[in-house]
Amino acid sequence: MVDDILRTPGAVRDAERWTAHNYHPLPVVISSAEGAWLTDVDGRRYLDCLAGYSALNFGHRHPQLIAAAHAQLDRLTLTSRAFIHDQFADFCRELAELCGKDLVLPMNTGAEAVETGIKVARKWGYQVKGVSPGQANIVVAEGNFHGRTTTIVSFSTDEDARADFGPYTPGFTVVPYGDLAALTAAIDENTVAVLLEPIQGEQGVVVPPEGYLPGVRQVCTERDVLFIADEIQSGLGRTGATFACDHEGVVPDMYLLGKALGGGIVPVSAVAANTDVLGVLKPGQHGSTFGGNPLACAVAIEVVRLLATGEFQRRSAELGERLRAGLEGLVGKGLVGVRVRGLWAGLDIDPALMSGREACERLMERGVLAKDTHGSTIRLAPPLVITEEEIDQAVTALAEVLTA
Ligand SMILES: Cc1ncc(COP(=O)(O)O)c(C=O)c1O
Repeated sequence: MVDDILRTPGAVRDAERWTAHNYHPLPVVISSAEGAWLTDVDGRRYLDCLAGYSALNFGHRHPQLIAAAHAQLDRLTLTSRAFIHDQFADFCRELAELCGKDLVLPMNTGAEAVETGIKVARKWGYQVKGVSPGQANIVVAEGNFHGRTTTIVSFSTDEDARADFGPYTPGFTVVPYGDLAALTAAIDENTVAVLLEPIQGEQGVVVPPEGYLPGVRQVCTERDVLFIADEIQSGLGRTGATFACDHEGVVPDMYLLGKALGGGIVPVSAVAANTDVLGVLKPGQHGSTFGGNPLACAVAIEVVRLLATGEFQRRSAELGERLRAGLEGLVGKGLVGVRVRGLWAGLDIDPALMSGREACERLMERGVLAKDTHGSTIRLAPPLVITEEEIDQAVTALAEVLTA
């Protein structure tokens, strides 16, 4: 096909013309998808190795999730939290049970779950811990990514995410990720929480040293500080366990969840914690018009049920080993580093060869879609329904890109 009868170039131009340029997407225009595969407006197929930043852990249009969405669309879509609807309690109960917590507070986007966690931790600090008014402090990590609100970017260490969005929200102390001594030293009588990603996704799938998360758990318990785990990207099967914290037997005081919770259909996020923590919120103190709506709950109930089978965590763990073996074989052949947890990988490309962006463009030409992050790093996060053969296909495409 020649360019003037392809639909892609015009569609890319139109998208650029009519939107703010806060993203730099690959020049591909998707029109349909199923499982691990995407099809563009010109009928070309691509293996999805990003899965909507892990929002599509169960693949595109998983039949059980689509059926739940259709059924709910035909009955009831929105009530607001002014009334209770018939999907609400089941969602909250089943998610609370999956998390091993007493209560769930549903929101929509990941950033809202993080904001909720921050508000709850501060209120807990004042009302339960006895921190002096206005003094609450939260310890966070360098290289964090927790979302895009003005408060959240206030404690980002990524200049692109933060610069020129001040004045910044006070009340956060940044320490190096993975350094338990630095984190411990940063805690004082005003510290209400430690907020961490158990694996830093956006930073390039950075796994902290073994023993770090259990150490954080212990120091938080000893110093009467809440441990808030942002599992928005790492949770819900991505790493070969329900939560990334599970790999080290760590149970945080608060889970922040999002992305895959909505099954790739609707935005659903949530905070899960025990009554002594979430119970500090009273009517009128927090909320969201769309949080916990019937459509979201109907889909998310099925997400929780899929996870309760353990099948997706198992697939992620087993297939992740195949992905690891394939990628480790490329170290020294274009890759200078690889980090893998389940079906989640951060690959450092030799910067002398090409940028991460260039590698993703070349992967796209070979029918594989992935996303670069921070210069020469690529993140792979395929849907957990991907097969062994498809993993091999992605690794082969990468090997070709690195040696071409
Ligand atoms: C760990 C983590 N927390 C929070 C967020 C923000 O989620 P959302 O984009 O849904 O606001 C993200 C998004 O990438 C994330 O990776």
